Amino acid sequence: MHINNQNIGCLFDLDGVLVDTAVYHYKAWKDLANSLGFDFTEAQNEHLKGVNRMRSLDMILEWGGVEKTAAEKEVLATTKNEAYVKMISKMTESEVLPGSLKLLQDLKASGIKIALGSASKNSGLILERTGLAPLFDAIVDGNHVGTSKPDPEVFLKGAGLLGVEAQHCIVFEDAQAGVQAAIAGKMKVVGIGQAANLMGADVVISDLSGITVEEIVALIK
Ligand code: BG6
Ligand code: MG
Repeated sequence: MHINNQNIGCLFDLDGVLVDTAVYHYKAWKDLANSLGFDFTEAQNEHLKGVNRMRSLDMILEWGGVEKTAAEKEVLATTKNEAYVKMISKMTESEVLPGSLKLLQDLKASGIKIALGSASKNSGLILERTGLAPLFDAIVDGNHVGTSKPDPEVFLKGAGLLGVEAQHCIVFEDAQAGVQAAIAGKMKVVGIGQAANLMGADVVISDLSGITVEEIVALIK
């Protein structure tokens, strides 16, 4: 099949790729851990990137050596989310990471399709607060999937909604779990951040100002 821009899809993770929300997740989890009597480090937080809310809570409780019932976990996850939502409700366009807006606009202008592929159930609020929502052709987030990255479900659903074949998709990810999900989905992957945290990515850049539409298209040709 001849590849033209209309049958290429770019699938973007949200937290840590398009917007700087990792700091808010970290603060909300740290406060929760502290309230339970233990600490939570930035190194531990790195392992939660791309991991959904309930799985993140399970990992934190395990690190703290604390056991909770399913009902108690629901309460804890809600407490963390309420604190997190309070913080992201005040987000502005200034918290869009460098290069994100320009790259999304350039991709759109070139006819390449764009989807969100995020584990977050709060993506709607974040996209609305930052003004990015109108740039997406499809949104898949934690409200639409049953599995967490590294399962490829979130990206395969995004490709399906865009009507693009998996091998013509490029995923943009800041989390190791997300890179693994993209690879499992047989997609190309651009890592955002430090190469050591993004094993298997086809290319690693520090933010989205580090890649052009031409370089993205070249990844699948
Ligand atoms: C991911 C974040 O994007 O979303 C994780 O990297 C987070 O840290 C996950 O746990 C779920 O987010 P939310 O907003 O549904 O709690
Ligand atoms: Mg992320």
